[in-house]
Parts: sequence; C-alpha cells; structure tokens
Amino acid sequence: MNKRPIILDGDPGHDDAIAWLLAKASPELEIRAITCVCGNQTVEKVSYNARRICTLLGIDAPIAKGKRKPLIGPEMNAPSVHGESGLDGPPLPEPVMELCPLSSVELMAKTLRESEEKITIVATGPLTNVASLLLAYPELKEKIEVISFMGGGIRFGNWTPAAEFNILVDPEAAKIVTESGLPLIMSGLDVTEQALMLPADFDRIRSLGGQISQIVADWLEFFYGFHKNLGYEGAPMHDPCAVASLIRPDLFETQELCVEVETCGEYCRGTTVGHSRKPANVRVNMGIRREAFADLLVEAVKSYKEN
Ligand code: RIB
Ligand code: CA
Repeated sequence: MNKRPIILDGDPGHDDAIAWLLAKASPELEIRAITCVCGNQTVEKVSYNARRICTLLGIDAPIAKGKRKPLIGPEMNAPSVHGESGLDGPPLPEPVMELCPLSSVELMAKTLRESEEKITIVATGPLTNVASLLLAYPELKEKIEVISFMGGGIRFGNWTPAAEFNILVDPEAAKIVTESGLPLIMSGLDVTEQALMLPADFDRIRSLGGQISQIVADWLEFFYGFHKNLGYEGAPMHDPCAVASLIRPDLFETQELCVEVETCGEYCRGTTVGHSRKPANVRVNMGIRREAFADLLVEAVKSYKEN
C-alpha cells in the first residue's frame, strides 16, 4: 500500500494528541514531520507537549517549534480548556527527543522540498505556520497534496458566537490558506461537535488495559470536564476529524462551499462564512457517523495494545 505522507501541525492540546494517535495508528499514513504552533498554550508549552506525546506514542519524526504569536493579532491561549500545561491530566513520560533546530516553517519547507511525492498537511491548531509557509515558499505549494484542517464553523462559533478558536486566534492566516487555491478539507464545529466521544466510549478505551489506553481515557475525561459544564453529552473530537477525513472519508457528509474568513469586525472577526455564491474553494465536513467514528478511535487505541 502506498502510504500518504503527512505533516502534523498543531497546538497539543488533548484533541490534537488524540488526532496524532489516530494518525500514528493508521497504516494509510506516514508521519514525516511534526510542527507546533501557538494556540491552546504558548508555543514553548505545546512544543514540550508534542515531544511528550511523540515519546508516549513512539512517533519517530522531527518536531519543530513554530510561531510564537499569530501573524497580526495578539496571542490567545485556552487554559480553561486544556489547563496551564496545555495537556493537563495524566502524567506523561519525559521526552526522549529534542526539538529539531529548524523552525516549524523551515521544517515544513525542508520536508516538502525533499519529498518525491506530494505531502498532505494536517493542521489542528491556528493556521499561522501553514500561512507563513505559503507566504515564504509559494513555489512549494505544488508539493502540497491537500490541507486537512480543523477550524471554523459554518453555522456557529465556540470562542465567540461567530468564531471558532483556531480561526479566531489567527484570522489573517486562515484567510491566506482559504485563498491559496490549494485543495482544502475543513472540519469545522458543524461536524466536530457531532464527533463526540461519550463516557461509555471512555470506558471502552479504559477497559482495553495498558498504559496508553489509560492515558487516552484520562485525556478524554479531562477534555470532557470543560464541555460537560456547558451541557455537552460527550467530548467533541475536533482535531481527530482532520485525520479521519483522510482515512475514512466515508464517515462524513460534505459540502463543496466557498468559505471566506472575516478578519475585521468587533464581533465577527474570525467568522468562516460558507456559501455557494462564488466557486467552491473548500470541501466542508458537515456531518459524521458518530458511532463508527468512535469505533475508529477505540480501534486506534486498541492497535497500540496489540503492538
Ligand atoms: O476549537 C477547537 C480547536 O481549538 C481544537 O483544535 C482545539 O485543540 C483547540 O486548538
Ligand atoms: Ca488543536
């Protein structure tokens, strides 16, 4: 089987970590590089988390620290959701690898430049690194197969009524990406808030036994804690949708839409406006088969038990 080479760009983050586990467990994918971006926590904290996650999961790929702040706006973090460390909850092994000396943009560029085949970028944080890559190395756009990103929401936001966190942190970056002309798959809140892991799913994972199963169940419990207080019946698996879109597109209902990012406005900055009045530029995931998606995540964790 020809594996799809991917770059994972994110701000781990509990759901980023579970997305990376799904990617590592997927035989269809080959992780070529990990690039970190400020978002859920500072770029220092998310880069440390990335090293701990890769140590735990046995991901063997260079890890680079990225942009310290968004292109234009102020830095925004989400300690209320992911904790002060950005990955609060279960203790994790100390990293066995150092950071790559390159910046995230330089590592992305090197990875693209040296690859014989096109590479897919899976972005699960603000799009600051991805946009910076496109600005600095436009000639490398032809080496990008598709950008599958978690961000936005056609019908609603989360950090504000209008805007989702990843897009709101760096709307200018999101605008650059959506206007890039590259193939894009968007997993926004429309689908990710349907992609719930329920407490019964946490128990399925915990019952698998083994260190990784316990840690994933603890991550889910922690992440659910914030959402339970808001009335959610489960933990929304935002970032894993960006990976699942690539390996199990059959799980999703999609729409081809013209998606435009609002960068102005006191109340609407960061809104992703989706419509059909102009040519479509994004494949937008709008629905998901939740139970099959939950089974996919449970099987991914189980695959670690079997290895
Ligand atoms: O709005 C959800 C997104 O913001 C997810 O990527 C989560 O990890 C946070 O980064
Ligand atoms: Ca994220």
